[in-house]
Amino acid sequence: MEYQLCPSILSADFNRLGEQIKALERAGVKWLHIDVMDGDFVPSISFGMPVIRSIRKESHLFFDVHLMVTAPERYIRDFVDCGADSVTIHAEACEDLERAIQLIRDAGAQVGISIKPATPVNDISHFLEDVDTVLIMTVQPGFGGQKYIQDCTEKIMELKELIDKEELEVNIQVDGGINDETLETVIKAGANLIVAGSYVFKGDLESNTRAIRKKIETISGEVE
Ligand code: DX5
Ligand code: ZN
Repeated sequence: MEYQLCPSILSADFNRLGEQIKALERAGVKWLHIDVMDGDFVPSISFGMPVIRSIRKESHLFFDVHLMVTAPERYIRDFVDCGADSVTIHAEACEDLERAIQLIRDAGAQVGISIKPATPVNDISHFLEDVDTVLIMTVQPGFGGQKYIQDCTEKIMELKELIDKEELEVNIQVDGGINDETLETVIKAGANLIVAGSYVFKGDLESNTRAIRKKIETISGEVE
């Protein structure tokens, strides 16, 4: 599997967003994690299409858009049109997950589905063949800077086992509370797409990013 650090711009300084994305690019990042919150599926509101459209003009990174939005099927086409390369929707937010997955495919983007910490892997296990990525939330979605929920490690392992058993090529992404202590745990459990907000943006962005990418490379090299 391809291992990627996916910095979450939720922790960016929005006054310097373009500049910070350039720093991530210089440090070798390929995926940019973009958290969209609607104040309904999650308590907070972040940003939406206009911001994505603006940064799309200046960046060739892979835009990984994480929709923490109720009934996200209403907006899939809009997010792809403004620059999403991958769209991740929450299983809990969709009345008809199968249809929502199809809408993302029809719009021409990669498909991600996500589950919150309390949602069992079993709820999405019959969709594995239809998606590119499963995002296991490792904190309650809604805010950056929270503590990793330890119980989620088992869910990553369970998902990894299912994917391997079915011989599928599905990315396992983790999001929330990733830092020096939890990075190794999630990679060894089976995650290959690592979202990180505060871990990347707190302090010197470019040197943090280089160091974290190096750590991911080292740890993933130890996973058979
Ligand atoms: C939380 C968002 C995350 C968040 C992660 O709901 O989905 O992407 O930015 O932030 P950290 O890495 O600081 O926990
Ligand atoms: Zn996210």
